Amino acid sequence: PRPHDVGLLLLLAMLAGCDGQQSALNPAGAGAQSIATLFWWMAGGALLIWTVVMGIALYATQAHPEAHGIRSARWLIIGGGIIFPVVVLTGLLIYGLMLMPQLRPSENVALRIEVSGEQWWWRVRYLREAGEAIELANEIRLPVGERVAFRLTSPDVIHSFWIPSLGGKVDMIPGRTNELVLEPTRTGTFRGVCAEYCGTSHALMKLVVVVMPRDEFDRWLAEQAEPAQAPTSELQQAGQLAFLANGCGACHQVRGTEADGAVGPDLTHVGGRLSLAAGTLPADVEAFQRWIGHTGAIKPDVRMPAFGMLPEAQLNAMAHYLSGLK
Ligand code: CUA
Repeated sequence: PRPHDVGLLLLLAMLAGCDGQQSALNPAGAGAQSIATLFWWMAGGALLIWTVVMGIALYATQAHPEAHGIRSARWLIIGGGIIFPVVVLTGLLIYGLMLMPQLRPSENVALRIEVSGEQWWWRVRYLREAGEAIELANEIRLPVGERVAFRLTSPDVIHSFWIPSLGGKVDMIPGRTNELVLEPTRTGTFRGVCAEYCGTSHALMKLVVVVMPRDEFDRWLAEQAEPAQAPTSELQQAGQLAFLANGCGACHQVRGTEADGAVGPDLTHVGGRLSLAAGTLPADVEAFQRWIGHTGAIKPDVRMPAFGMLPEAQLNAMAHYLSGLK
């Protein structure tokens, strides 16, 4: 390809990131709005400094008999090279510091959520009164226009929690809890990512974030609090038996059944989620079957073993059982 084709491709690739579900420059939250505003002021300031310094450099390289005196050279260096950039950068620094308190956590929140980054998925717990929590995985739903406090940690290695459309990123560090307050300002579906390299499948550690009206959110959360629904067909029933017989319940919980493992994601309502395997696959029957049979091929080094040795019919039944857990 010719050089300008490569440039065009790079530009298109960059612009592709500016729209949609995962862009800090298309804010849908108060924190992201501050960051986007600061970015544009920074970019403007940088452009101003670049233009002035380049203008002076250009002027200095032209033949200006009157500019050749040592006094004007000193003025150019002190004025254009030091005073002007220092003034602009100091202004930007003060402006940036002024935006910071808004990003800090505070007490005045409508909802508290604990998120734990684990290799390579997200454990999500909605805290309710009296220390109770509703646990789910890889999906976060939020009511629009309300402040939500996140408590972020990790049991294994350092991860970083980032939903670019809603706010800044915060590291998840083993042995420590970090706080982040997000305030979504419009409804929609957004994407979160792990922003700290955390091992082989770091790039496959994604998060679906849905911002919804308060009443829809309340309905959804009430559904999440319910135990799993019973199998509604013989196929799903066979799937549940296979799920329990193969020991899946040692790692996974399905509330209301014998499966009460706490190692892997809670699967009580896994069939109602928008994605599977932390944003890696769609949440349909085929994907469930593919995932159970080939975990390591889809997500290298994942802790869940592949069950490809099971008969096709059993895998299919399990896939129907799990995708039926709405
Ligand atoms: Cu978790 Cu990168």
